Amino acid sequence: MALKRTKIVDIFSPELVGEQVCVKGWVRTRRGNKHVQFIALNDGSTIKNLQIVIDLEKFSDEELKPITTGSSLHVEGTLVASQGKGQSVEVQAQTIEVYGTADPDEYPLQKKGHTLEFLREKAHLRMRTNTFGAVFRIRHHLAFAIHKFFNDKGFFYMNTPLITASDCEGAGDMFQVTTLNLGDLPKNEDGSNDYSKDFFGKPTSLTVSGQLEGELGATSLGAIYTFGPTFRAENSNTPRHLAEFWMIEPEVAFNDITDNMDLAEEFIKYCVQYALDHCKDDIEFLNQMYDNTLIDRLQGVLKQDFVRLTYTEGIKILEQSGKKFEFPVKWGVDLQSEHERYLVEQHFKRPVILTDYPREIKAFYMKLNPDNKTVAAVDCLVPGIGEIIGGSQREDDYAKLKARMDELGMKESDYDFYMDLRKYGSVRHSGFGLGFERLILFVTGMQNIRDVIPFPRTPKNANF
Ligand code: 4AD
Ligand code: MG
Repeated sequence: MALKRTKIVDIFSPELVGEQVCVKGWVRTRRGNKHVQFIALNDGSTIKNLQIVIDLEKFSDEELKPITTGSSLHVEGTLVASQGKGQSVEVQAQTIEVYGTADPDEYPLQKKGHTLEFLREKAHLRMRTNTFGAVFRIRHHLAFAIHKFFNDKGFFYMNTPLITASDCEGAGDMFQVTTLNLGDLPKNEDGSNDYSKDFFGKPTSLTVSGQLEGELGATSLGAIYTFGPTFRAENSNTPRHLAEFWMIEPEVAFNDITDNMDLAEEFIKYCVQYALDHCKDDIEFLNQMYDNTLIDRLQGVLKQDFVRLTYTEGIKILEQSGKKFEFPVKWGVDLQSEHERYLVEQHFKRPVILTDYPREIKAFYMKLNPDNKTVAAVDCLVPGIGEIIGGSQREDDYAKLKARMDELGMKESDYDFYMDLRKYGSVRHSGFGLGFERLILFVTGMQNIRDVIPFPRTPKNANF
């Protein structure tokens, strides 16, 4: 009977020492001398490589020739306690089958370290490196943690549409979805495009947020969360923006702005704790390789209460800082990343939840405060990144929402379903959106959002 494969993540358990094992994976390195050769084998299940020891009396040069960096192997042999340092066990090879070779003159991932920029060009192979293996294992565990967090709290996972006819954020940076022939568009008499001929009979786009539909779920099921792809055609070539990213949007009936902040803080801390508990090897690797303050920073987040402060107070602190910002601050301006980072990294030195922004710089659906100037917005800012969460208490008063939409020139008929919510059993409710990749940046300490999603989409880049 064929020997069953053991994943490398499971091979380091003491019971297996002395046993025959079967392992499969890709060669990271091969080194050695005329008597013995060592292969570092990795199968993606863990950052750890397994050392395969080859006695050159048992294998010919011909057999070993195709075993180069990047080739894939099936190895059977005895698992023994290792004499060398750097690993607790190793496999003394008895049989080696080469599944696939990797021409050393062509294989792009050679032994020496590559820059993250170079690896971005090789995104189809970069998951085979230590760094990206670690990042994408952490990404998985965080996704799982998010579902677990909400499931354990009795939230329902809701799938909102990706193709939509309404613009949630009102920012207008949407990707249009059409089956019309762009070279020969059907026209109305006035020369405008005749969307009645389009697939959905009207203009549609990829969603910028599942929130509007999420609110419908929350005011029916009580508490929901979405977790799905989100699309923004904003032309921001920054280390924190993607054109296609993943967002988690919880929405809860009866929650006010304070409940919303409590949920956001608990949620972020849960994710950080989960990663520290379940991704120890990978986080330690990143801490050692890139940023030796990472683990301290993550542990610090767990210990401290997030600062809660209004936008107006935040602006005062920025004005009094005496710092020359690229974008000058005064009450009413939208905060730039440099402002957010000043507050969290220099002034408070911990995460900050900013609330009550001027209504002019926030979306139409946010609850108007009694001052008639600000809305019940909630933005959570973290060190190294700036905004990681954006949310609010929602305007649940039909007349106020209608007035705001009128001001903005929004057509009520485009938002019938959303207005109905304010007509039938309207209740206070709140929610927020967490950018999944920004959370991964925070937990891994990586600096560029292109390095925490397998195949990033950014302006002029849709490869793979
Ligand atoms: O602040 P935003 O635009 O809020 C909303 O979309 C609300 N509808 C959420 C809600 O209340 N349900 O986006 C939420 C978060 C941001 O804080 C940021 O973390 C992330 O989504 N985000 C992006 N991440 C990567 N690339 C982009 N282009 C992003 N735009 C927003
Ligand atoms: Mg925002």
